Amino acid sequence: MEVLNSVLLLILAATLSVAVAYDPLDPNGNITIKWDVMSWTPDGYVAMVTINNYQMYRHIMAPGWTVGWTWARREVIWSMVGAQATEQGDCSRFKGNIPHCCKRTPAVVDLLPGVPYNQQIANCCRGGVVPAYGQEPAAAVAAFQVSVGQAGTTNRTVKLPKNFTLLGPGPGYTCGPAKVVPSTVFLTPDHRRKTQALMTWNVTCTYSQHLASKYPSCCVSFSSFYNETVIPCAKCSCGCEHKSCVRSERDSKRLAVTGKHAAAAPHATRVHGGGAPASLLQCTTHMCPVRVHWHVKLNYKEYWRAKITITNFNYRMNYTGWTLVAQHPNLDNITEVFSFDYKPIVAYGSINDTAMFYGLKYFNDQLMEAGPHGNVQSEVLMRKDASTFTFRQGWAFPRKVYFNGDECQMPSPDSYPYLPNAAPAAASASLVRSAVVVASLMLLMA
Ligand SMILES: *[C@@H]1O[C@H](CO)[C@@H](O)[C@H](O)[C@H]1NC(C)=O
Ligand SMILES: *[C@@H]1O[C@H](CO)[C@@H](O)[C@H](O)[C@H]1NC(C)=O
Ligand SMILES: *[C@@H]1O[C@H](CO)[C@@H](O)[C@H](O)[C@H]1NC(C)=O
Ligand SMILES: *[C@@H]1O[C@H](CO)[C@@H](O)[C@H](O)[C@H]1NC(C)=O
Ligand SMILES: *[C@@H]1O[C@H](CO)[C@@H](O)[C@H](O)[C@H]1NC(C)=O
Ligand SMILES: *[C@@H]1O[C@H](CO)[C@@H](O)[C@H](O)[C@H]1NC(C)=O
Ligand SMILES: *[C@@H]1O[C@H](CO)[C@@H](O)[C@H](O)[C@H]1NC(C)=O
Ligand SMILES: *[C@@H]1O[C@H](CO)[C@@H](O)[C@H](O)[C@H]1NC(C)=O
Repeated sequence: MEVLNSVLLLILAATLSVAVAYDPLDPNGNITIKWDVMSWTPDGYVAMVTINNYQMYRHIMAPGWTVGWTWARREVIWSMVGAQATEQGDCSRFKGNIPHCCKRTPAVVDLLPGVPYNQQIANCCRGGVVPAYGQEPAAAVAAFQVSVGQAGTTNRTVKLPKNFTLLGPGPGYTCGPAKVVPSTVFLTPDHRRKTQALMTWNVTCTYSQHLASKYPSCCVSFSSFYNETVIPCAKCSCGCEHKSCVRSERDSKRLAVTGKHAAAAPHATRVHGGGAPASLLQCTTHMCPVRVHWHVKLNYKEYWRAKITITNFNYRMNYTGWTLVAQHPNLDNITEVFSFDYKPIVAYGSINDTAMFYGLKYFNDQLMEAGPHGNVQSEVLMRKDASTFTFRQGWAFPRKVYFNGDECQMPSPDSYPYLPNAAPAAASASLVRSAVVVASLMLLMA
């Protein structure tokens, strides 16, 4: 019965996701880029551009966001505060005052922390890193100011930029068209006066893992106290073709010294801007940079306990501000979470089976590079719901796991550890599997 229920929920979730968004666990997740025209100038306007990350658990990690667009006419950027265009382009037609950027398709990046105060603006200058909304709602925003020339100078003559793109830090985002919306109203700092943008437009960008990469970027393994078999990550979970790897930390150090890692890791060119460290994977059968292990640890009368371990297999990457999302029907009855922070994610109003976990600030919010310190761990204590709780048929294992907003590859459902003396329950297992297939097909169609 419970299997059938979860099958129905899966199908429901998948169907809804087709209609609304790519991610069934965060159907409204998006990044909004809003332009507020603050003043008209003799040849254009000055706009505040605000980037809000409305995704519950997907942050933009280093080396940060890049926002691009195509000007509608021959606009130029005279100056920017709190960000910069990556290329100036051909400004040879200008004499005297030279614009900051003359490209028809500018690409803009955040400034690094610590730039002089006169180049800063509120919410700028964090190297393009933006936390997830569910993690730090107040900080999930970035902003810059842009002064545009050779543009319209009234709300009837201004032309909206087209073809917005967002990289953060790899591909995966698709942006819709810019739309004029009611002008933003601002409150003065003393809250005694309201002012208003002269004109506002915004753009919504959504993320799709299929666009970001062909393979998952993490995998899941299982174990339990009631069965000594450890179910490893599926082989080549993150793709084995063209992937190079190193056997040990010593090899990784040697490569770093001789500078061969760039050639040794050709797959690591997901990053943009050139300044980012290339990834260097430890050799594993799964070839994933990150593994999430779920261990069913203890069984009490009214409670049970799972241990979660996240392991980094990438010698070139510290995951700062990482997030982990797990979906399991008993996560609505979390009693205590040890050494991680935690928030329930209620996607469809009533289905409360998903939790976001993240590190405690200054303690384990950074998942360190592969090696002796390259893991973080937590234990989750859940209260048994008498009507559904069971250790049979792998019920105690999560249905879905996401690391940093990307869905992790699960082990094959029929390999789940089962209780001694329990029959493998072939019928229900294949039911679940076909539901998963249906769900994935629908997601692919989205
Ligand atoms: C973007 O996210 C915001 C906040 O969750 C939501 O109000 C808005 O409807 C979303 N936009 C789209 C197009 O999904
Ligand atoms: C939109 O931008 C993308 C990427 O910068 C580019 O490949 C494409 O040609 C652009 N389309 C238009 C209509 O400018
Ligand atoms: C443009 O400005 C006029 C007043 O100058 C105002 O009535 C109108 O609503 C504005 N339109 C937009 C799209 O902001
Ligand atoms: C665009 O801005 C309007 C007005 O501020 C806001 O109501 C709307 O939700 C924004 N769109 C998105 C997708 O966030
Ligand atoms: C990760 O962080 C540690 C400690 O802050 C630092 O020593 C190390 O160089 C960092 N590694 C990378 C790849 O950034
Ligand atoms: C969801 O589950 C969590 C964890 O038990 C609980 O704290 C929260 O109140 C629940 N929320 C809803 C809307 O049921
Ligand atoms: C588990 O949580 C759900 C929803 O929050 C609640 O209705 C139910 O009573 C809880 N079960 C137990 C055993 O606490
Ligand atoms: C543990 O589970 C595996 C399936 O993953 C099964 O093959 C094995 O027989 C189980 N062990 C015991 C002692 O039941």
